[in-house]
Amino acid sequence: MTEPRDGHRAAVQTMSPGAALEVRGVTAGYGAHTVLRDVSLTVREREVVSLLGHNGAGKSTLLRAVAGVIGVERGDIDFGGMSQIGHGSARVAQDGIALVPQGRGVFPNLTIGENLQLGGGIARRATGREKVSMDFVLDLFPALSSRLHEDAGTLSGGQQQMVAIATALMTSPRLLLLDEPSTGLAPVLVQTMLDQIRSVHQELGIGVLIVEQNIHEALRVSDRAYVLRLGEMVRERPASALLDDPDIWDLF
Ligand SMILES: Nc1ncnc2c1ncn2[C@@H]1O[C@H](COP(=O)(O)OP(=O)(O)OP(=O)(O)O)[C@@H](O)[C@H]1O
Ligand SMILES: [Mg+2]
Repeated sequence: MTEPRDGHRAAVQTMSPGAALEVRGVTAGYGAHTVLRDVSLTVREREVVSLLGHNGAGKSTLLRAVAGVIGVERGDIDFGGMSQIGHGSARVAQDGIALVPQGRGVFPNLTIGENLQLGGGIARRATGREKVSMDFVLDLFPALSSRLHEDAGTLSGGQQQMVAIATALMTSPRLLLLDEPSTGLAPVLVQTMLDQIRSVHQELGIGVLIVEQNIHEALRVSDRAYVLRLGEMVRERPASALLDDPDIWDLF
């Protein structure tokens, strides 16, 4: 694993030792429509984990529950040893969980710089961890630095996705939740995007939970993987072992 850059060594070392996500027996959905049933999942410190499954399986719903965007009917969600249940999305973000939602996660009428500053605002209200600087983020995504004053809506889909991820990093997360970050990218760019996510993870030493339709590409950059099917967790495997699963094609 690549060593974090000097400016972030301290941030990594002072991260609370239990900064891991534990979802235990979660049942959740939308009003009377229960989507997730008794779902459990763990993202250990500094782990990249894929969450896979067919359309409508409940992947985005699980990320929303973890990020506090929706509540849970039953079960626990712990982060860094603390329950997140009932905290709401603003508090969860301050606690260090950043969600990059499916689709366009940017404000198109704000400039790239203004989008990034919104993430920085969340970090300013957070305590107990070192802040990620804009220089550091722009170093990771150099394509954005010359365009800071341009409206985010003028960028290509792939570049907007970069802005969305960069904004999430500006919140100084300890866990990054990515909902289909490669959507809308040309196939040749999907691998590049996922490689970039893997190197972001290595630079910052944070956990990443990534939902992807590009199964092979996602597994290549992941340590472990889960498969959701009709709202139930049906597999948990080391990423390299999942492709050898004899039922893999049935699962999707
Ligand atoms: N805001 C919502 N209100 C009501 N039902 C919803 C809402 N969002 C999703 N659902 C329903 O919840 C179920 C799971 O949807 P979800 O978006 O979590 O699936 P997904 O695995 O992310 O699918 P996809 O691969 O298409 O993104 C689906 O039946 C969907 O119709
Ligand atoms: Mg989804």
